[in-house]
Amino acid sequence: MIFGSDNQAGASERVLAAITEAYRCHDDAYGDDHHTAAANEVLRATFDTDLEAYFVSSGTAANMLALSAMVQPWDGVICHHQAHVLLDESTGPSLFTGGAAMMPVPERDVRLNPQAVESMLGRLPADAPHNVRARALSITQANECGQVYAADEIAALTAVARHANLRVHLDGARFANAVAALDVHPGDLTWRAGVDVMCLGATKNGAVAAEAIVFFDRSLADDFGYRLKRTGHLTSKARLYGAQFVAWLADDHWLDLARHANAAAERLRRELADLPGIRLAWACQSNETFVLVDRPLFESLTAAGVSMYEWYPDALPADERIGDDELLARMVTSWATSDAEVDAFAAAVRAHAH
Ligand SMILES: Cc1ncc(COP(=O)(O)O)c(C=O)c1O
Repeated sequence: MIFGSDNQAGASERVLAAITEAYRCHDDAYGDDHHTAAANEVLRATFDTDLEAYFVSSGTAANMLALSAMVQPWDGVICHHQAHVLLDESTGPSLFTGGAAMMPVPERDVRLNPQAVESMLGRLPADAPHNVRARALSITQANECGQVYAADEIAALTAVARHANLRVHLDGARFANAVAALDVHPGDLTWRAGVDVMCLGATKNGAVAAEAIVFFDRSLADDFGYRLKRTGHLTSKARLYGAQFVAWLADDHWLDLARHANAAAERLRRELADLPGIRLAWACQSNETFVLVDRPLFESLTAAGVSMYEWYPDALPADERIGDDELLARMVTSWATSDAEVDAFAAAVRAHAH
């Protein structure tokens, strides 16, 4: 009963076969190989635009490198108060950008909203060069709290950013789940809605380790090769990433995997409606589900082999509170979650509820 994270899952047979195939022969090194070129082509076709992509093995590396190409050391990146770039990447984004600050929107909401971003921008001190200069907005899709932003919501956020001369970064570690949930063209959720650079994650959704830094604004990719090299991210046998991306994107495999993960989450959420001692913390639309669980039940479930993570209590919206003997937990389904696993979880809750 694995609900800790979607990166606990393995990799799809198609992706595994593509990696094996890619290493049967010689090819050029450091990203000059056929697979890297093919992945760029497939990404251009998928997003329907003339983008430029680079590849790394972790989402953290992708975010840090992307931001380093978007802001100066004296700049700030506005983000959600639960953003991965703020809470889960140590001081990496500051290190890679040469010192830029991550600036959380103070409102405790489960999603970024344009008014909150606008009002934060309006309140920032503007006494240059004494203050931090906000220069980028980072949006996560699917978001930190398991929700998705429709294309017009992304466009509304990027409009506020543009108005304040901010560039827009999209953390798409679970972008596939968002596209699958919304059933819209990936271009509509990104460059057509004003996103400049996105990090597209495949690792959590069926790849071994493959994250793309996708430049819709190609001018920001100038010298990006140097950024990869000097941070140790220019992989010599770089075909690893290209091969995974080509197989992952082919025939909508990425969306089939994400649809499966989302459907498993829907099944889980349906079960939760009738389970004792555990309840949905807020509505979710992707493969992440947040629950409030009785603490003794959480401990019994963990002892019974359920993997799920206790989560940051601050993720809860400002008008909600956690009961004294409750905790907030995150449950994530993946492309590999079976119906039987969800059913076994529901049975375990019924057996252990106090
Ligand atoms: C929103 C988000 N961004 C990025 C990442 C990438 O993290 P990692 O460096 O573990 O691949 C994650 C992984 O948990 C994530 O949830």
